[in-house]
Amino acid sequence: MLSMMEAIERRVSCRSYEKKPLEPSTLEKLTDCVNQLRDASGIGMELVTVEDEKDSVKLARSMFNGGVTTYLLLTGDGSPATGERAGYYAHQFVLYATRLGLGTCWVAGTYDHHSVHPKLAEGEQVLSVIPVGYPTEKVPLKQSMIRAGLRKGDRKDEAFVESELLFTQLPEWFRRCVEAVRMGPSAVNGQPINLSWQDGVIRAKVWKENHRMEYLDLGIAKAQFEAAAHAQGIKGHWELGKEGRFQWEQSE
Ligand SMILES: Cc1cc2nc3c(=O)[nH]c(=O)nc-3n(C[C@H](O)[C@H](O)[C@H](O)COP(=O)(O)O)c2cc1C
Repeated sequence: MLSMMEAIERRVSCRSYEKKPLEPSTLEKLTDCVNQLRDASGIGMELVTVEDEKDSVKLARSMFNGGVTTYLLLTGDGSPATGERAGYYAHQFVLYATRLGLGTCWVAGTYDHHSVHPKLAEGEQVLSVIPVGYPTEKVPLKQSMIRAGLRKGDRKDEAFVESELLFTQLPEWFRRCVEAVRMGPSAVNGQPINLSWQDGVIRAKVWKENHRMEYLDLGIAKAQFEAAAHAQGIKGHWELGKEGRFQWEQSE
């Protein structure tokens, strides 16, 4: 199993999957993970597995080579709070699947919305799907080109941070967490999240709109940050919601 830092470094939006179902033991691990995250989050999370690819979510051919027979279906009301919560918890699933050597991709837009069959309560919608499967050994040109195109506009790590200190004056562990946020996924790679450091008080906020996905992106950024902090031995947890801080022991 990959370490968390390896998973953060290796994760990419996988756009090409092997045509084979997940091993039963792998599926079991993913199911346990989803059950825990659903209980903790209250977000609609269904790990859908079908036998035949034709019954699965149909990913846009312009962005993906073929599809998968397992995917996570995320549902909830369309509020910012729910978006942030869904991003934060479902991205822990993405990182776990990555640690198991699997490929994933957050897909909120480019799939056939009639190909999924969510159980929706009044006022709820599908927030995103996340296909999960074995990445093909050869990374297709399509994937490299799409990624290079989207990533060429990457912000610099220091551009993510608002602080009275220079980026180089901030603690090494914090800078690595910022790097993890930059390496994380965001809708159309908009990177709409800023982090702030004021006397050790750490917050995260949306600084620009991003195709109405900015709150999913906020939760994802928090999950990337927290995973990188834990990997470095910094125990801390994000509060979700407006003004939410990263609670950590400054003496550590
Ligand atoms: C909330 C969210 C929604 C996304 N929706 C789509 C999508 O509909 N189609 C797609 O091809 N990629 C989608 N992506 C993937 C992003 O384009 C990708 O994460 C970003 O370009 C960075 O590339 P990387 O994940 O390979 O590092 C989405 C990502 C996030 C976080």
